[in-house]
Amino acid sequence: MENNFDVIVIGGGPGGYVCAIRAAQLGLKTACVESRGTLGGTCLNVGCIPSKSLLNLSESFYKAQKDFKNQGIEFSDLKLNLSKMMSSKNKSVQVLTKGVEFLFKKNKVTYIKGKGVLFSTNDIVVYEGEKKTSYKSKNIVIATGSAPLSLHGVETDEKNIVSSTGALSLSEVPKELVVIGGGYIGLEMGSIWSRLGSNVTVLEYLDHITPGMDREISNEFQKILTKQGIKFKLNNKVTSATNEQNKVIVDYTNNKTAVRERKECDKVLVAVGRKPYTEGLNLTKIGVKKDSKGNIEVNNKLQTSINNIYAIGDVIKGPMLAHKAEEEGIAVAEIIAGQAGHVNYDVIPGVVYTSPEVAVVGKTEEELQLKNIKYKVGKFPFLANSRAKVNNETDGFVKILADSKTDRVLGVHMIGPHTGDMIAEMALAMEFGASAEDIARTCHAHPTHTEAVKEAALAVDKRAIHF
Ligand code: NAI
Repeated sequence: MENNFDVIVIGGGPGGYVCAIRAAQLGLKTACVESRGTLGGTCLNVGCIPSKSLLNLSESFYKAQKDFKNQGIEFSDLKLNLSKMMSSKNKSVQVLTKGVEFLFKKNKVTYIKGKGVLFSTNDIVVYEGEKKTSYKSKNIVIATGSAPLSLHGVETDEKNIVSSTGALSLSEVPKELVVIGGGYIGLEMGSIWSRLGSNVTVLEYLDHITPGMDREISNEFQKILTKQGIKFKLNNKVTSATNEQNKVIVDYTNNKTAVRERKECDKVLVAVGRKPYTEGLNLTKIGVKKDSKGNIEVNNKLQTSINNIYAIGDVIKGPMLAHKAEEEGIAVAEIIAGQAGHVNYDVIPGVVYTSPEVAVVGKTEEELQLKNIKYKVGKFPFLANSRAKVNNETDGFVKILADSKTDRVLGVHMIGPHTGDMIAEMALAMEFGASAEDIARTCHAHPTHTEAVKEAALAVDKRAIHF
């Protein structure tokens, strides 16, 4: 009986651990299997959390170096102690991963250490070193996340040619850093190392950065990062990166002109996307179906082709975001408990934690045009927001897209200070089916950055006050 469960979740990342806690809250006997040795998955161990720690610390360093003197804060002998910065980051990670372990104990979730393999539709074998233990469960949730995509001709060694994992733990600041891929990881990690002193060049295959993002935001984002010193080479496909006597030689070809170029650098970060991680689970043998991209196929109840096996997070389709996985984890736990768990995929915010932050929710202009949906645009620049002006953070704007006829908010796209937090209000508004008028008539505290949202909502009807 000890090894019999109502729910076994495989994977202890944000999707898996949240699912396990919710299932236990609902009275289900729940276990979570995790092979990493610590809970929290990619997000807490080698993703969102350590990168946000380094983004925050590197921004302080950058501001101290570039801005403070002009603002009356003078000091001498500013130095970077990278190993101390890395220790601070590691400590944040440790505190949070231990925190999840505490939450498991509090909620009576059994934490099983080891690699889980499906043996049948109700049986899981967990391998930990030489040890092999069998478990039974009425329901199984696959939440094994994703792994970095590799690039043909570029082999990561996590020393000179690194994935995001290696880029979070470099022992010295590279003089020249080449980033392959102008997406979320490339731009966050590129910003960190640029602020700490690297010359950063981003090589991007497409003619714009952050694919899928509203194009006006993406263009503005690139302009701001360029102003900060990051170089971009768009329309370039990297064909190889090779180690040569402590340097890396990167070869790339322009998609349009076919001109081939070569760049020598100290480190290369490969950030060309991630792929679902389902290796070694034995899914094919059990009959769990995957699509051509390797995503596990699920129905609208997040059930796989086997009724009692569910899948959530990065192993299924949709944005590879921790908070999307969490929503799915909660939905699955509630569905298993007989409740009406549900995820609203139209309202999943996305944030790039650079400076300024980029935050988006809902449809882009391009998506609305493609669907032939008529819309109105309300825009407000941070240059006209008093708080942003006082703080000297005037880059960026808020853009609200509302339905032409109904005024319902269809998408919000922001680039600017604190927008990563501000997007929550917009997600809430969209969940409640708000119109731009509803936001415009909501009192926003003065002086705050959030007034830019109210003004953008007013601008939808061409009646912004401060611009
Ligand atoms: P991404 O999909 O965001 O960007 C990858 C970029 O690489 C694309 O712009 C693509 O066009 C480019 N690319 C592909 N092949 C190339 C080549 N041969 N040469 C040059 N460029 C090439 O993927 P990324 O940045 O690796 O992130 C992976 C996942 O992690 C994303 O799905 C993202 O959602 C998630 N993530 C989210 C974060 C956040 O929420 N703040 C932070 C970091 C990651």
